[in-house]
Amino acid sequence: PSCGEWNTLVEIPRGRAGEKPSWLSYSPGTSQELSKVTLEDFPRLVLDMGEANRVLGGGLVRGSLVLVGGDPGVGKSTLLLQLSAALAMNSGPVLYVSGEESSQQIKLRAERLGIVGQGLHVLAETDMAAILRHLDILSPTVAMIDSIQSVAFSDHPAGPGTLGQVRECGLALLRWAKAKGTPTFVTGHVTKEGNLAGPRALEHMVDVVLYLEGSNLGSYRLLRGEKNRFGSTNEVGVFEMRDKGLTQVLNPSEVALASRDRHAVGSVVVPVMEGTRPLLVEIQALTTPSSLPTPRRVANGVDMSRLLMVIAVLIKRAGIHLSGQDIIVNVAGGFRAMEPAVDLGMALALASSLRNTPLLDSMAALGEIGLGGELRNISQLPRRLAELKHMGFDTCLGP
Ligand code: TYD
Ligand code: MG
Repeated sequence: PSCGEWNTLVEIPRGRAGEKPSWLSYSPGTSQELSKVTLEDFPRLVLDMGEANRVLGGGLVRGSLVLVGGDPGVGKSTLLLQLSAALAMNSGPVLYVSGEESSQQIKLRAERLGIVGQGLHVLAETDMAAILRHLDILSPTVAMIDSIQSVAFSDHPAGPGTLGQVRECGLALLRWAKAKGTPTFVTGHVTKEGNLAGPRALEHMVDVVLYLEGSNLGSYRLLRGEKNRFGSTNEVGVFEMRDKGLTQVLNPSEVALASRDRHAVGSVVVPVMEGTRPLLVEIQALTTPSSLPTPRRVANGVDMSRLLMVIAVLIKRAGIHLSGQDIIVNVAGGFRAMEPAVDLGMALALASSLRNTPLLDSMAALGEIGLGGELRNISQLPRRLAELKHMGFDTCLGP
């Protein structure tokens, strides 16, 4: 409807010739009492890379389809190749299919990463039907498809990367992964708007969606769970892109606080929980007198509605005159701190900036702020405090 033109609707036939519609080839399974279902033959495949395991919820689940999204060049192919090599060494043959690079190009990358590649089979192919045949022939322990936008069914009228192709290829891989019980990774490019181009439809069908982020992190990369049918989605894996590929960062708090100015105005350290792991982040606030009738509020990495609430509470309950101020609140280093526990940190950072006075540099803060101006309890206090202590903080303001 948006183009306002006639005769622009194009029909894309779905069924391929000779193929039975899926509702006719349906074979009924059997129901089972839940108490009788065993998990013995359903182990998770534990990856060599702890940071990837963490985001996956403790390893790869049989038959799961995992989508790894990210900007071009962020390191998706590198991550998949490194995972492939480790899996091939420990768990059995892996098929790495690239629709973007030739076998020689993959070899060049592998050499750079120090990967010999025993048990790691590579296939440079864009034809989805051929890929499925190879998957059946090799029957690998894990399959990797790099990327969903580069592969296509040749008998499908739409071109590679279009919504129709991405959906058909995704569905075919989903069916294959479920039928064989083989964990399968698929990469997808993200557009500038932050959507997976085409693969938005894919997000709903896959089991796990991971994003590899790195735009304002320098050489650091965050692997973030967006959806996970088998684990928490709050988990973040931290990596650094080095000359020999992605290496795990085992103490991300150090990274998050690396370039912190200890005496900066409007800066507070808050221990947030990223899934099961405490992480120290630096909340920064900047207030400047506004010339606009409606002052601006910008939230980077914090929840906008919580920021607005904290501002309102400060004005009403604490007599802090933020009304005429443009306000920017930022989590340093591209991290995110969306939980209510950062309320107090935001409030202190705002007050610090408004009064142009730094806070104690060895002090952290955490606590949820209620509308009455009260400080409320937060979860997992001991773990957060342990991380603070570990990183050398001796004071923490809290409920
Ligand atoms: P790549 O995995 O090709 O990104 P994607 O598949 O997401 O498009 O990553 C390419 C970038 O990573 C490129 O800018 C070079 C860099 N890189 C390293 O810094 N070190 C390495 O060992 C490798 C293989 C790549
Ligand atoms: Mg790539």
